[in-house]
Amino acid sequence: MKNSQPSVANYFTRDRAWHPQAYAPGYKSSVLRAPTRALIAFGNSLSETSGPAFGHDIIGPLDNDMILNFAQPGESAIGERIMVQGRVLDERGQPVPGVLLEFWQANAGGRYRHKKDGYLAPLDPNFGGCGRTISGGDGTYAFRTVRPGPYPWPNGPNDWRPAHIHISVFGHGFAQRLITQMYFQGDPLIPICPIVRTINDPKAIEQLTARLDMNASAPMDALAYRFDIILRGSRSTLFENRLEGN
Ligand SMILES: [Fe+2]
Repeated sequence: MKNSQPSVANYFTRDRAWHPQAYAPGYKSSVLRAPTRALIAFGNSLSETSGPAFGHDIIGPLDNDMILNFAQPGESAIGERIMVQGRVLDERGQPVPGVLLEFWQANAGGRYRHKKDGYLAPLDPNFGGCGRTISGGDGTYAFRTVRPGPYPWPNGPNDWRPAHIHISVFGHGFAQRLITQMYFQGDPLIPICPIVRTINDPKAIEQLTARLDMNASAPMDALAYRFDIILRGSRSTLFENRLEGN
């Protein structure tokens, strides 16, 4: 994300064994989506990297609180209250400040607030399912939400997504965007999910799994999960929109 041109001395190339193949028949929609021709890498143009920039002033006070940011006054979202926190780091373990993080997820019953989601679980009138924040000077970020429910999806006859939160990371312009998914430690649906199973290395799956962090929990209020996001190099988080190319 930081270095789009492979000309600098310590450029970290993409580890093809760490990232899944774009073509994975067990994940049905990858079959038509996977490229059938050799890949071409495009560097970012000057206008893309120097274009729209994010400032801290775009963030509202409740943007990183999905328990409250869609709720009626005095109400809150239904579900298991959790906090997610971690750091955005570069390939050398250095914090990356000022990146815009966006989150979206299903509600506690596993239903998205989206017109195309027809799952049986009800919508929660006090839960929208979207939030955002900007990483601090030390690369830290945090948001509050309810734990999303698992949901079925039409892939095989009985496929279910594990509980997960979608996370988008913007750099300093709209052209620098990476998207991943965060899972929850101990979820038995993780190893049988067809999307997760496109990842070959169990360590890469572990890195997409947030860890319960009792030290950061709020007693009588919310559990906490830790999820660090690493942008490049051998420890990079797996970004689903950059499976191939750079
Ligand atoms: Fe999802």
